[in-house]
Amino acid sequence: MLQKIYDYVDERLDITPMWRDIADHEVPEHVNPAHHFSAFVYCFGGLTFFITVIQILSGMFLTMYYAPDIINAYRSVEFLQNEVAFGVIVRGMHHWGASLVIVMMFLHTLRVFFTGSYKKPRELNWVVGVLIFFVMLALGVTGYLLPWDMKAYFATAVVLQIAESVPLIGGFAKALLAGGDIIGATTLTRFFAIHVFFLPGALLGLLAAHFYMIRKQGISGPL
Ligand code: HEM
Repeated sequence: MLQKIYDYVDERLDITPMWRDIADHEVPEHVNPAHHFSAFVYCFGGLTFFITVIQILSGMFLTMYYAPDIINAYRSVEFLQNEVAFGVIVRGMHHWGASLVIVMMFLHTLRVFFTGSYKKPRELNWVVGVLIFFVMLALGVTGYLLPWDMKAYFATAVVLQIAESVPLIGGFAKALLAGGDIIGATTLTRFFAIHVFFLPGALLGLLAAHFYMIRKQGISGPL
């Protein structure tokens, strides 16, 4: 049955070369932990990606209950956490995943650094990686405000002060993020929009570039 569906689509769209190009590759010996145990460090990028996918999926479900306005935000999170079936699990995944993905990304960066994989010809992928790094940090910072509790409010006060301390553009950056003079209604809607649309959009584009370059250049090594 499945084979028939596959053949039907393949006959019309010739999809076999497409997935073979993506999936049909031998894992090189030096990055395979089954051959060299220490090669497990080469899994860190893939694990970072795995948690990133979990963040996107759990985040999509969170937005089914989250209300991005200052009257309802806190209560909507509380409701999700305490009343909605599996709400505590979905929120827990997004909450702990947010920290874990930063840790994994950092370990991946250390692997790339200590294997010297940022050197020619992979400099541009390192640059893309640095951009990804900042996007991921920004995702953490903007997500932190959304529960709209005391911790969120005062952490955001600190974040806005940091933005303001940037030379030349500091005042503009703060106004752009806060949407006004105080941390209020427009700050929350802006952080929400940045957290769920702008940054994930940027991240997906950067990850596409990251993976394209990895495929184009092959994995580095052996040492
Ligand atoms: C969401 C964050 C990221 C994801 C999902 C990701 C994913 C990956 C994956 C799957 C690989 C293949 C090799 C491996 O798994 O180790 C890789 C390679 C690479 N990554 Fe990342 N990465 C991320 C962030 C970064 C950062 C922050 C940097 C550096 C600042 C970076 C620089 C590189 C470079 C230079 C390579 C090529 C390494 C080689 O050929 O040995 N990546 N990345």
